[in-house]
Amino acid sequence: MTSPVTWENRDGIALITIDSPPVNALGHAVRAGLWEAVEAAEADPAVRALVITAAGRSFPAGADIREFGKPPQAPLLPDLCDRIEVCTKPVIAALHGTALGGGLELALAAHVRIAHAKARVGFPEINLGLLPGAGGTQRAPRLIGAEQALQLMTGGRPVRAADALAMGLLDGVVEDGLTEAALALAADLVADGTAPVPTRDRTEGFRNPQVYAEAIAAARRQPHPPEQPAATRIADCVEAALLLPFEAGLAYERAAFEELQATPAARGLRHAFLSERRLSKTPEAGTEARPVEHLGVIGGGRTGAALVLSALSAGLRVTLVERDHDALIAALERIADIHEAEVARGRLTPEKRDEDWARLAGSAELPRLAEAEMIVEAVPEDLGLKAEIFSQLGRVARPGAILASATAALDIAALATAAGRPADTLAFRPWTEIPRSGLVELGVTPRTGAEAVATATALAARLGHRAVRATGPLLGRMMGAWAAAADGLLLAGSTPLRIDTALRGYGYRRGRYQAEDLIGLATLSGLRRPGLADGLAARGRTGCAVGAGWFDWPEGTRRAQENDEVLALVEAERQRHGLPSRPVGEEEIVLSCLLALIAEGTRVLADETALRPSDIDMALMIGLGFPRWRGGPMLAADMMGLLDAKNALAALAPENPELWTPADLLADLLKNGRSFEDLNGI
Ligand code: 3HC
Repeated sequence: MTSPVTWENRDGIALITIDSPPVNALGHAVRAGLWEAVEAAEADPAVRALVITAAGRSFPAGADIREFGKPPQAPLLPDLCDRIEVCTKPVIAALHGTALGGGLELALAAHVRIAHAKARVGFPEINLGLLPGAGGTQRAPRLIGAEQALQLMTGGRPVRAADALAMGLLDGVVEDGLTEAALALAADLVADGTAPVPTRDRTEGFRNPQVYAEAIAAARRQPHPPEQPAATRIADCVEAALLLPFEAGLAYERAAFEELQATPAARGLRHAFLSERRLSKTPEAGTEARPVEHLGVIGGGRTGAALVLSALSAGLRVTLVERDHDALIAALERIADIHEAEVARGRLTPEKRDEDWARLAGSAELPRLAEAEMIVEAVPEDLGLKAEIFSQLGRVARPGAILASATAALDIAALATAAGRPADTLAFRPWTEIPRSGLVELGVTPRTGAEAVATATALAARLGHRAVRATGPLLGRMMGAWAAAADGLLLAGSTPLRIDTALRGYGYRRGRYQAEDLIGLATLSGLRRPGLADGLAARGRTGCAVGAGWFDWPEGTRRAQENDEVLALVEAERQRHGLPSRPVGEEEIVLSCLLALIAEGTRVLADETALRPSDIDMALMIGLGFPRWRGGPMLAADMMGLLDAKNALAALAPENPELWTPADLLADLLKNGRSFEDLNGI
């Protein structure tokens, strides 16, 4: 097998090139290749200095995340970094693209670093529940001090090359000709004859120990959930850089890295990273999308208005159609109000608002959509109404236009038939419950064409959303089960406040009742318990706030708790069902809601609504605010153990078999010693 690392002698300088697409991650073959290249170049008397560079889009973007959790293979990255640092000939790292994590650590082990002006560097390990584990916590503070090192490592956000240069992390930035500049620099160093100082012996960052110590103390004062110890351990390691000899500091960092790697949070975050990228691996991947510059939106309610706004913001032309003139004016006013609020908050400039507004047209006539390349219908959930709209669209839309419905629940196949264009029809469901949640569910039928899916996926990306491919309502079903479990606990004796507090304590971005009004509460629970909904409707209690919105926790739930009417209604409902009130603990709340998601997840997989378990996890993380560091419910099932999950579901089943009985898939996995993770593919 050819090595992904090659080197050649360029006038006495060894030019070492890493070539391992897509991002030159430092997997085993790259590490081994680099080690060999450094050894050979150092041993070659014709070589006076070394330049390490990378082909393709980027200098290494980090350790290979796919290798985490597997037995490590020598040479390990920290050892490779040491090997580079102790090289007796000058080593220059030439950075472009995104030199992240282990990639930046490799560069820090070199003696000199230059970068292309467009390069970005950083330590994103914290996003994976980790810390820089190849000397980064020891070398970076020696160059840039504790405050900036901590900012890079606990913030996890990359910085531009110019900023890294200003910090002292880089030694030079070039506009172009990176390799030539690195070779010239190497030649200068050779001609100069003074040996460069290895980073381990640099002390600029230690100049002011008091400032250094204050930065550590400030980092320690930041609150962090105990389940996510990475930030705390980063502070410990950066402190160790100042207090311990270099080798001992490295050993300390290594131990902390391994400790973090074993945490459930690291597993969850790694799963989230890989799941997010797996979303795009669909049967339609690789199909070319049709161009969409003109979007039609039918219905200017909450979903429609959100779509119009995000499409305008992405630079599209938009035609909004409402059922009549008055409804159109109301919808345009709603959109204008949101625009104005964004301007008032400083999120949108008045110029951009005017530009966006100039690309928006409104009409009460469907034929005005004849030029749109994609049309999304977002009217209320009424199959008859939607079918009528799709049948008209079949007549007026231009050939090749993608016809989409934002329906969260209804049968998309019926709409495809009504339009008479099954290959071009699909569901396009933006989930707007969590502000800027960025999830669009694509509902495809067996007759939906690959180009329609590719076009809708591309549009979702352009609007800043992740697309999840499903063959029917996915997130709606999962949320229904989650809500039903919570409602069961409410009737068993809990309160909205206690349930939402427990869920938020687990890490959900929203509680079950946080943004419900009474009817919403009743209707959601009415999926399985219609009594409560009927009771409320009979009392005419629509729009009475249980929660006060997504943003103002705990205010929303405090009101819910204080809302005697809700508690009285729940009590009445309890009595109607003859249910005794009993204490419901936090653990029970969290576990029940999770088990309901797991059970529904097995059903969503069994009927092939979702392509794979990790798509369900991702949909929940983005759309419902399931804690990312827990990796989603299907990973949580694997982590709890499938047998325990099955037994816990079996114990609950008699209470509500529809909710708690998993699909046979769960038993099949158990029988075959497999996990949900095994169904994810690569
Ligand atoms: N390991 C393995 N694969 C990686 C990877 C990594 N570190 N980084 C990216 N990839 C893969 C992705 O999975 C994806 O694969 P696919 O094409 O098969 O789906 C491909 O590279 C392209 O990635 P993106 O789709 O994310 O492309 P973008 O251009 O949007 O982003 C990026 C590129 C900014 C490099 C982004 O991928 C990223 O942030 N990667 C993670 C970087 C990271 O976390 N590095 C630290 C790793 S931990 C570490 O280094 C530990 C060390 O301290 C010991």
